Amino acid sequence: MDKIKIIGGKPLNGKVEVSGAKNAALPILISSLLADGPCRFSRVPRLQDIRTTLKLLGHLGVSVNAHLDQNQVELHADHIHTLDAPYDLVKTMRASVVVLGPLLARFGRAKVSLPGGCAIGARPIGFHLAGLEKLGAEIQLEGGYVIASAKRLRGNRVAFEFPSVGATENLLMASVLAEGETILENCAKEPEVVDLAKTLKAMGAQIEGEGTETIHVQGKTSLVGCDHEIMGDRIEAGTFLAAGFASGGNVRVDGLNPDYIESLLVKFEEAGAKITRGDGFIGLQSLGRPKAVDMTTQPYPGFPTDMQAQFMAVMAVAEGASLISETIFENRFMHVSELARLGADIAIRGNTAIVKGQKSLRGAPIMATDLRASASLIIAGLCAQGETVIDRIYHLDRGYERVEEKIQQLGGSIERVR
Ligand code: UD1
Repeated sequence: MDKIKIIGGKPLNGKVEVSGAKNAALPILISSLLADGPCRFSRVPRLQDIRTTLKLLGHLGVSVNAHLDQNQVELHADHIHTLDAPYDLVKTMRASVVVLGPLLARFGRAKVSLPGGCAIGARPIGFHLAGLEKLGAEIQLEGGYVIASAKRLRGNRVAFEFPSVGATENLLMASVLAEGETILENCAKEPEVVDLAKTLKAMGAQIEGEGTETIHVQGKTSLVGCDHEIMGDRIEAGTFLAAGFASGGNVRVDGLNPDYIESLLVKFEEAGAKITRGDGFIGLQSLGRPKAVDMTTQPYPGFPTDMQAQFMAVMAVAEGASLISETIFENRFMHVSELARLGADIAIRGNTAIVKGQKSLRGAPIMATDLRASASLIIAGLCAQGETVIDRIYHLDRGYERVEEKIQQLGGSIERVR
């Protein structure tokens, strides 16, 4: 199994380009199930989760023409031969549950394995199912599968209990082919939802209000193929900025709209970094050791839960103590015990971590537990004196494209060992 070896203690300096956003690409590739014609996507990141999605689409019968080395994928859902998404494909990637909406909307039936829990929490799909029922779907749970059917979905008003990203995406994809108008309320406003809506509009869907709480959709009887470039990955960008800040460096990330991580940039400014917001880039200059600031994760435009672990790594070397509260997932502090192995001083009280910043960390063998936890361990390893070896980095390969290469480009001493 691959490991990552880091020799820490050097500031990161320089420029990197972010890849296409994983969390935008997954539902967007799946949205090809809705279109009669071929869909061409560019800036698709070369990641394990993308390969899993393509495998699932291929299993359903979508013709997949992928050149991931060039970040290009062409998908054509003209010969769907099964409407079943089996457990062995869904279990490795929860996002696959968003095939429910498009399969149901276009083909009238879907059988999708319940995704089950994952390391960061239970992650149920009740909001997805309640929403689809509102559009007239009949839903049964049988042998660990959701079986949904509807002759044709009918538009309705759907109010989400919580602005869930996945449920908003699932319902958006269901409603574009439903009969009449659908009004989605209390929607997730994440930029990835907006990128999906942009793709659906390119297929001919009629959608208004994406990026706000309420989305209006006028259903169509069919959609056409499209060309779409995936948005830049704001979490990847935030991760490199965090690594630059924690290590005392000067980093610029290119290839994304700075507005999409404003909540993070504001926190870094409060913590003493100098931030430059440019046209498609962000610069971060560390003006000394970060100062401790408190943070609470929130749905967009609040601070993203997907940056919580990386932010904690910065606070682990900050001056003073900070309180970090996680409100989105119940079990997202698994990086804490690994950060402690590097000398971080962190205590957990319920959903809050109390982080007492240390002048320095020391390298140690540690283990990645989930995707963003892995990123936080890399940041901490880059700050720690001496050698850090991170085990179980397959989590990292699910969500970061060529991460070692990009960190090397910033002057970090990092390598993959087999
Ligand atoms: C997406 C992101 C993930 C990110 C998360 C929150 C993708 C592929 N993944 O995950 O990286 O961390 O948004 O920004 O885009 N919930 C329910 N019932 C439901 C659905 C959700 O209780 O039916 C709860 C979840 O358990 C969680 C909260 O709602 O506590 C938010 O989850 P949600 O926004 O749905 O996250 P995902 O779409 O799974």
